[in-house]
Amino acid sequence: MENLLSMTDAKDEVQNILDIASKLKSGEINDKALTDKYLGMVFEKSSTRTRVSFEVGMQQLGGKALYLSSNDLQIGRGEPIPDTARVLSRFLDCIMIRAKSHKTVEELIKYSDIPIINGLTDKEHPCQTFADLLTIKEHLGDFNKKLVFVGDGNNVCNSLLLGAAYTGMDMTVACPKGYEPDEEIFALAQEEAKKTGSKINIESDVHKAVEDADVLYTDVWVSMGDEEEAEERKRILKEYQINSQLLSEANENAIVMHCLPAIRDEEITDEVMTSSQSAIWDQAENRLHAQKAILYLLLK
Ligand code: CP
Ligand code: NVA
Repeated sequence: MENLLSMTDAKDEVQNILDIASKLKSGEINDKALTDKYLGMVFEKSSTRTRVSFEVGMQQLGGKALYLSSNDLQIGRGEPIPDTARVLSRFLDCIMIRAKSHKTVEELIKYSDIPIINGLTDKEHPCQTFADLLTIKEHLGDFNKKLVFVGDGNNVCNSLLLGAAYTGMDMTVACPKGYEPDEEIFALAQEEAKKTGSKINIESDVHKAVEDADVLYTDVWVSMGDEEEAEERKRILKEYQINSQLLSEANENAIVMHCLPAIRDEEITDEVMTSSQSAIWDQAENRLHAQKAILYLLLK
């Protein structure tokens, strides 16, 4: 794996990344593998978990991370991405970027000589998927399970579809018409799922979707960049909330996941977030271990 733009880049490394993450978490791998390595973290959008997990992770592995807000970089004043890529490649060993547009990351990859990690775009959030898969493995033991993603078929959902297909996990996206995941990614996930023997589908009836679910997963209805559609989204997505009633319709020991940040009483209730079935806080912690594993693989 040279870069992590999409989950497709990690297709052959999924198990390996999860193994490294588990070993980093347990302390079985405990070397300062990235001593003297520098990670640049470019942000065009806000972040808590991605920023802190990469910065702490880099430090724990012996390296250093630089927070680079796009507002303060010359890209904020129009310096072209290719020039930024060429110059940052001379200073740094790796760049993690959270970009408004997926195309920006594609362009950065094209003109950089160092590994580029997608820390979220409008299309995908692969770093989140690794933390999610690690959490599912820890809580449920294996991927012979059914995950139901409830709500907006967004960037988080897109990467998770590929993650499910590659690990052989069944995944249903419960969403209203018009809020389906990316068409191309969905088709690819279905094709990959055939090889691993899992089922990937979309179901607009949320109650039907959660039958036999082992994991209920949701994310905000209004992602960063969708703010102008906020009212319409809240109206159309209002039936797609993970609450105690919906949770009771899933398998008895089902876990609840959310990538965070969450908007209480929109896509999820506080009661569910803080219930014994919530894996949300472990999931957030696992961003650290998963991000370290990705850095370890790309930079060691
Ligand atoms: N889940 C996630 O990426 O969180 P942040 O936006 O806080 O980084
Ligand atoms: N779908 C959300 C995820 C935030 C981590 C967004 O893009 O804003």
